[in-house]
Amino acid sequence: MKLKFGLKRLDDAIGGGLDENTVNLVTGRSGIGKTILASHWAAEGAKNGMGVAYLATTLVKRSCETYLKKFRFMEDVYDKIHWRFIRVDAKYMMPVTRERIEQAVITTIKMKPEDVDMIVFDTVTDLDKALADPVLFRRVIKYMADLCYKNDITALFIEEAPMMGDWSETKNLSESVIFLDLLHTENGYERAMRILKKYRSSHPLEWIPYDITDEGIVFKEGWYVRRDYSYIYKSD
Ligand SMILES: Nc1ncnc2c1ncn2[C@@H]1O[C@H](COP(=O)(O)OP(=O)(O)O)[C@@H](O)[C@H]1O
Ligand SMILES: [Mg+2]
Repeated sequence: MKLKFGLKRLDDAIGGGLDENTVNLVTGRSGIGKTILASHWAAEGAKNGMGVAYLATTLVKRSCETYLKKFRFMEDVYDKIHWRFIRVDAKYMMPVTRERIEQAVITTIKMKPEDVDMIVFDTVTDLDKALADPVLFRRVIKYMADLCYKNDITALFIEEAPMMGDWSETKNLSESVIFLDLLHTENGYERAMRILKKYRSSHPLEWIPYDITDEGIVFKEGWYVRRDYSYIYKSD
């Protein structure tokens, strides 16, 4: 089964939606549209009767109600989503053992894992910051991913892409990675997203342009492709 964003162009590009019971990642810089994109996915799931938990580290209840709830695609489904507003504190994860992390997640979602079909973790960057140790962070992410696999939960992790330096490990254990960025084009800066990875289906490699409006993410026509290249094909 495919879990759609409810955004046709993106759903088509990833082979119909995110594959059931997989771990996925949306990454990009701050303000690019990660939370809005994840909310589309959560809203579409709730609309289809899925049990959806949204763990938000960057929003509080009030700002979520005056922000995400106002998008039209949230109108009928906002109250069906199990919103959890959390402040990540390393002390709830120490020592980092599988049991400890499972317990912390289950306590946080306040639902029986078997009642959860979809989970959004927005953002795992706050976990990374709280733990301040890439090895521990990788283990926590791994244990969270395993917990999802064990309970047939489809997970969407949100992560802030580093402006410089190495990417974290999250994209390596994710079965799909969607990267949102600002591209410097002839018309100035434009929002666009690109599928870096998607298991089990082929996908376009070019940038898909989009805008953010009161409707949420709205795709524009066409693609962004690089205007220069370093290699040309020769048949012999
Ligand atoms: N109603 C709206 N109309 C147009 N643009 C909006 C609207 N709401 C938010 N935005 C844009 O979306 C951006 C934030 O998107 P968000 O998904 O919260 O980003 P992040 O990637 O940090 O999670 C804002 O900086 C703004 O540019
Ligand atoms: Mg956000």
